[in-house]
Amino acid sequence: MPSERSGAFAPGRVNLIGEHTDYNDGLALPFAITAGVTVRAEAGGARSPDRIAAYARDLGESDEFALANPPRAGGWRSYVRGTVAELGRAGFPLIGAQLEIAGDVPPGAGLSSSAALEVALALALIALASEHHGEPPGELDRTAIARLCARVESEWVGAQTGLLDQLASLYGAAEKAMWIDFHTLRIHEVPLALGGWRLAVVDSGERHAHASSGYNLRRAECRAACELLGVSSLREAEPQQVERLPEPLRARVQHVSGENERVIAAVAALRAGDLAGLGALLNASHESLRVRYEVSTAAVERTVQALLHHGATGARMIGGGFGGSVLGLFAPGTSLPAGAREVRAGAGARVL
Ligand code: GLA
Repeated sequence: MPSERSGAFAPGRVNLIGEHTDYNDGLALPFAITAGVTVRAEAGGARSPDRIAAYARDLGESDEFALANPPRAGGWRSYVRGTVAELGRAGFPLIGAQLEIAGDVPPGAGLSSSAALEVALALALIALASEHHGEPPGELDRTAIARLCARVESEWVGAQTGLLDQLASLYGAAEKAMWIDFHTLRIHEVPLALGGWRLAVVDSGERHAHASSGYNLRRAECRAACELLGVSSLREAEPQQVERLPEPLRARVQHVSGENERVIAAVAALRAGDLAGLGALLNASHESLRVRYEVSTAAVERTVQALLHHGATGARMIGGGFGGSVLGLFAPGTSLPAGAREVRAGAGARVL
């Protein structure tokens, strides 16, 4: 009998604008990139049929654990064990398998390598189980998978992240950005019509881990601001009330409200083909993240300045901050700086 196999690819993402808005019921405009994580799964292969054996090819490291109640582990293993455990908890009928994981999104660089890993694992394991049970692969509820993968971050990795990265990876589309409203979880595709302009990322060289950075503290500050304002999310914050908040909460809320407005303005700029206007919005977003949200670092600032100096029309940190990559927008005819990697909007996660 031929062995049962499946595989899945899930992309990383670049968030064009709308940072630290997802867990505040706000707006964001990410796109899936063409780089991502591929997981190949084959039934059996572990020491016994009810176990998972995983091999991380890029690291040359492996792991093996029981399907039922996997024990905790650190590093990349926490994502694999967490995804298996959360799929099990959600009632997906998993089978023992051997997994091979490989990718081309650098970890900790703010391009969502972790969401790509969780999503690719989830899709590959679900596809393998449905093949094993002789069922056609059902229509996936992509939003439910995004939530499940976000639980891996919060329950297994210790990062209280929102749904930005997982939704971007699952719903991405070629040449489209996704305008996400985190209050309703409605997603509108917006053509990423750059008309000869280019987007590129430069790694600041500083690695981040949301579980240990100030990320969870920022979330706690937003919750504290909601309590003081008597609202259930910052989407409902009224500007006059915000003025009366103590610092740093006032600055945090001002960032979130301003960032939501910049997302709307960025959608309008893209639709109007006003790329210079988009560049100015990227700069304003970065300034707010640096001054009001305080999630930039010296290395990120140096990278932003280097990009602007090189001729970028706009540049900003992307992702949670405290390190990671910087996004630059370059006008036609402007060369990309050394080490910059051009990014394009690619298709979302898929079973292979
Ligand atoms: C990280 C998190 C996301 C989001 C961004 C900031 O990427 O995983 O949920 O909060 O930071 O916009």
